[in-house]
Amino acid sequence: MPHLRRIQLIAAILAAGTFTGCRLDMHVQPRENPLSRSDFYADQRSERPPVEGTVARDELRADTYFYTGKVGNNPGDVMPFPVNKQVLERGRERFNIFCAPCHSRLGDGNGFVPSRGFARKPPSFHIARLEKAPVGYFYDVITNGFGIMPDYASQIPPQDRWDIIAYIRALQLSQNATTADVPAGQKIPSEPPTFRQPESGATLPVPAPETKSTEEKSQNTKPEDMQSADMKGNQQVNQQ
Ligand code: HEC
Repeated sequence: MPHLRRIQLIAAILAAGTFTGCRLDMHVQPRENPLSRSDFYADQRSERPPVEGTVARDELRADTYFYTGKVGNNPGDVMPFPVNKQVLERGRERFNIFCAPCHSRLGDGNGFVPSRGFARKPPSFHIARLEKAPVGYFYDVITNGFGIMPDYASQIPPQDRWDIIAYIRALQLSQNATTADVPAGQKIPSEPPTFRQPESGATLPVPAPETKSTEEKSQNTKPEDMQSADMKGNQQVNQQ
């Protein structure tokens, strides 16, 4: 009996060997392993280079201005798309995330990071030179960095860079606006707030004690609301 079993076992092994032999062609397929040597191509590379002019999906950057901010070699001074409220809101959000830590929410360069000893203080966006700088210049600074400022090309996609720039323009206007900038026929919503003392810009400044009527007060509460919301956020973080 044990003898018979052994013969059966050997027969089974032989059979298995024969059958896998039949299927060998399926297992060894006429293909190349990645980056292996090939005898088929003259350059012996199994990995074929893409056909010249191949563009990966979503990588066609046909709109050069949108992706560089440049006309020829010079920075252009037009937005590549119309600016609306949505653009500005997105720009404000991205600016406050990526730029405000150094440039401050006001863009005056008094952000939190330089206040803790960053090698150099960023310039204010409200100096004449940067007010006159074309939008394409800002695009270039975000894309390639400037001096000791790192670039933000990998963190901020092109559309967001333009949104941020639109918001910087709004910030610049906000710090230097006059009644002449208010479109004809529109009322100025509120008097500019007066502040106790100039702040660093890292936090929203504290308005001077109110002496105005309640109506005007309600129109002026926004910055304070934002500030207290921010502070609540910070406290929660600190408690964790
Ligand atoms: C880590 C801090 C930091 C962050 C974050 C930062 N910057 Fe800067 N930025 C600087 C410093 C510092 C300078 C001055 C660099 C120098 O002079 O070497 C500067 C300079 C600039 C300038 C002025 C260039 C000039 O001609 O003087 C612009 C414009 C600018 N930054 C835009 C931005 C924008 C837009 C963002 C957000 C996408 C941003 N920065 C984020 C630190 C920062």
